[in-house]
Amino acid sequence: MNAAIRAVVRTCVYYEKTAIGIVSGYDGLLKGDFKELGARDVSNIIHRGGTILKSARCQEFRTKEGRAKAYENVKDAEIDGLIAIGGNGTFAGAHEFYKEFGVPIIGIPGTIDNDLVGSDYTIGYDTATNTAVNAIDSIRDTASSHDRLFFIEVMGRDSGFIAVRSALATGAETMLIPEKKTTIDRLLKILDYGTNNKKTSSLVVVAEGANEENTIALKEQIDARTDNHFDSKVTILGHLQRGGKPTCFDRILASRMGVLAVEGLMEGQEDVMVGLINRKVRFTPLQTAINGEREIDEELLRVGNILAI
Ligand code: F6P
Repeated sequence: MNAAIRAVVRTCVYYEKTAIGIVSGYDGLLKGDFKELGARDVSNIIHRGGTILKSARCQEFRTKEGRAKAYENVKDAEIDGLIAIGGNGTFAGAHEFYKEFGVPIIGIPGTIDNDLVGSDYTIGYDTATNTAVNAIDSIRDTASSHDRLFFIEVMGRDSGFIAVRSALATGAETMLIPEKKTTIDRLLKILDYGTNNKKTSSLVVVAEGANEENTIALKEQIDARTDNHFDSKVTILGHLQRGGKPTCFDRILASRMGVLAVEGLMEGQEDVMVGLINRKVRFTPLQTAINGEREIDEELLRVGNILAI
């Protein structure tokens, strides 16, 4: 997100526009917590995770009254357009605000979940996936040395994107994702298949929203059904995946999107999300980005299945 903020501010400076940073997202919009930002204010942040502007959930912005208060601040500060970095919730708020007050808004997709329609990649997804891959590689050492089964839980409350790619990149036996539920029976079949084919250890990547119960409960069910045969362990990667040094890919993606968002506003785009599809810039209506369902790439699942033999 910092790379995107830097790009937005510097593009504004480049086109001789004023950039105002809103602290803590919609909460700052409600409180009028604004600060003018120049090119040097965004120095030394391209390599840092998170956001220098901070982020917060804001219940009040979900209400009509809250948004009206925010609009007063926008008017007072003579703001002509807004750029909001975030995911589904951020864009739902942005779309409502646009409908009610007509303030042009462009969304920049920033979520590690990669679950937005309108961009092949969202900011943070590549970094989070690489963090997961590095962690799973380390876990593989114990799994293989001690002949164990590991369940590695990655983020993705409603989305299996991190799970699918990190599983494929680490050679995991399988992955469990919310988009395609797997039964315990099927999972046991995959594990047994491995054992019958001389595998002595296994990795199963589990998206946090893949099961009704949590990953520890899943492990306990497998243990109970197999008489602890697999000597299984659970590792929950958690918020490790939400921070850290952004990858080269994410920095470039965020930089491009920041520039394109400012240029989009100047060209009259409003109520849209900026995205890259097949390396081309696309503006997708916020409504579509919010309501569209991003599908898991079946090709990746197929490749994973073939190679897990
Ligand atoms: O941004 C989405 C996400 O990364 C989910 O995958 C995850 O469940 C959630 O955020 C965790 O966020 P929080 O710590 O704010 O609950």
